[in-house]
Amino acid sequence: MDSLLQLKAEATKEVEASKDLDALEQVRVAYLGKKGAIQEKMKGLGQMDPEERKSYGSELNQLKNQVTELIEKSKKALEKAALDARLASESLDVTLPARQKEEGSVHPVSQVIEECTEILANQGFEVVYGPQIEDDFHNFTALNIPPEHPARQMHDTFYFPEDEKGERSVLRTHTSSVQIRYMENNKPPYRVIAPGRTYRCDSDITHSPMFHQIEGLYIDKNITMAHLKGCLINFVQQFFGVDEVPVRFRPSFFPFTEPSAEMDIGCSRAQGDFKIGGDDWMEILGCGMVHPNVLKNVGVDPDEYQGFAFGIGIERLAMLKYGIADLRTFYEADIRWLEHYNFAPLDIPTLTGGLSR
Ligand code: DAH
Repeated sequence: MDSLLQLKAEATKEVEASKDLDALEQVRVAYLGKKGAIQEKMKGLGQMDPEERKSYGSELNQLKNQVTELIEKSKKALEKAALDARLASESLDVTLPARQKEEGSVHPVSQVIEECTEILANQGFEVVYGPQIEDDFHNFTALNIPPEHPARQMHDTFYFPEDEKGERSVLRTHTSSVQIRYMENNKPPYRVIAPGRTYRCDSDITHSPMFHQIEGLYIDKNITMAHLKGCLINFVQQFFGVDEVPVRFRPSFFPFTEPSAEMDIGCSRAQGDFKIGGDDWMEILGCGMVHPNVLKNVGVDPDEYQGFAFGIGIERLAMLKYGIADLRTFYEADIRWLEHYNFAPLDIPTLTGGLSR
């Protein structure tokens, strides 16, 4: 019994001597922990006869409760002291201006995709999507680009390693693959657009290894080149917000269209200033009448259906509309560039667009 009194006296002394929470924790472990002094004594209970065990056990429990209480009290006091010290040492100036919160904003590429989608949706096009990792069939073969055809070299393709069957997936080189996927799974007529990322091994001021396109496809029984021109001229007029956009259609070649053309916008790049109008031209899209072979490849009868397709370069449009001279700056994530060219998040795309910051 005496030894318990002594233990209590020691514990009390040590608790009182603890000047901080760490020291107090050590005292707690020394007395109440699994291998602490009180626990050790508990182990001795087993050897005692029942009478003795009962009274000693109850003393021991009491001691345990007292020490626990002592430590709790001391802990509260130490915590309060620590808080008081912090409050005394720190000051809060409620008159300081609030810290500015960084706000997310909309990249010109996203903005232009929104604008194009809105204009083309008003012309009756529906938005569809396809995968960025494509197989050879959808990216090339079905588009009338057979294996070993030189046209494949027009696209500096990123290939994946061969699979067990010896086939290589590709990062799609254009959104034209989405035409194929859509036609495979739907019955004509078709009037869809497919915005998305595309990839080619290419990098200079007008080419980046990853860039964006919007594919367009309009197939019905009597769609002609005149519809193609009307659709695209109307599109650029609305996109740039002016009636007199200088445009030209240049004959071109794509294996999946016949005839094929490219559409250029008149622009000027004088003194690093980049804008529409002027005696230079910038290509913004490829287009043409969908090749009969492409329709056959997806089970559509070219004697019954015909129409046009186009693939717009999004970054090109953004450069022209917002005066951005170097394509590579789009992806550098330079915060100053983003602050200058990005759009406020709540701006609703308008048909006339325009800088809104
Ligand atoms: N896929 C072509 C490219 O990336 C662009 C293109 C041209 C798409 C003609 C079309 C088209 O749909 O008809 O260069």
